[in-house]
Amino acid sequence: MQTLFRGKHFVTLRDWSQDEVETLLRVSMQLKMDFAMGKINDMLKNQTIFLMFFEQSTRTRNSMEAGITQLGGHAHFLDTSTMQVSHGETAKDTAIILGRMGHAIACRYCNWGYGNKYINEMAKWSPVPVMNLQCDLYHPMQAIADLMTIHEKFGTTKKLKVSIIWAYAESHKKPISVPLSQVLFFPRFGMEVVLAHPKGWELPDWVIAEAKANAERYGGSVTVTDDEAYAYKDAHIVIPKNWGNWVTDQTGLTTTGAVKVVDDKLMAHKAWKCTEEKIATADRDVVYMHALPADRNNEVEDSVIDGPHSIVYDEAENRLHTAKAVMALTMGGRGR
Ligand code: CP
Repeated sequence: MQTLFRGKHFVTLRDWSQDEVETLLRVSMQLKMDFAMGKINDMLKNQTIFLMFFEQSTRTRNSMEAGITQLGGHAHFLDTSTMQVSHGETAKDTAIILGRMGHAIACRYCNWGYGNKYINEMAKWSPVPVMNLQCDLYHPMQAIADLMTIHEKFGTTKKLKVSIIWAYAESHKKPISVPLSQVLFFPRFGMEVVLAHPKGWELPDWVIAEAKANAERYGGSVTVTDDEAYAYKDAHIVIPKNWGNWVTDQTGLTTTGAVKVVDDKLMAHKAWKCTEEKIATADRDVVYMHALPADRNNEVEDSVIDGPHSIVYDEAENRLHTAKAVMALTMGGRGR
């Protein structure tokens, strides 16, 4: 088992091997059990992580803050609108300086075309590990929590039909990073992934090509379709969630962009909602997942998200345990 992670960046799971992911899952599970039993783990005592947020967050921010506290360390929450980054200070200078003062830097920056470049630039210069809390391309913290949740519920990931389904939403223009991360990651664990969306909400071609290559290598499959009914049929896991059009929405593809969300093109697909009727066509024991926040009654009926198939709160809780595992394994380069 691979356990040498000190100083490793967590920008995308594409950089984490199967062995490394396996360790992450095991440590997450161990930390979850310790938390349940009230066992104190102060392995990151006196360590500081800087949390830079360009956009809003509930789960990510609080899983990181609560997580580092539970490990004995401390988080500085940094609203980037109050940092000199808002006056143009570079990613390089920010990363070097924060890295000299603490033990890790984590950042959420979803703005299309900027976020991933910014976080990679920080990772290039930072003397401490850099964690991606969601960018325009990836949300590795969500993907690892989702994998843990699937493992818990099914005891395996192999041969599960997992359908990642576009859904109608009006709340905001959602980034593509959640479905993109899932479609790349899940085939590495033998899942039969179906990606379903109306025309116009395609993920980039390179993502589909890499997801299919992952499926071939690790024994899963990837099917892309605009047939929503096919995606629900006999699925073991459904993940209906909105995402924006990365080609036409461009700079609007951010969680803060003050752009018009609803237009005629979107309205034409209002029927792409997760309903009890659709869930009834899936496997009898299907589970409903969503990274949250959900746009209730647009993306999903209340009776589904609040119903017996929904595991969204377990999924959200696992953000804590997996975030702790990422911090516990990668931090600690100094003073340990
Ligand atoms: N799923 C997720 O990342 O939630 P937040 O936006 O609340 O952090």
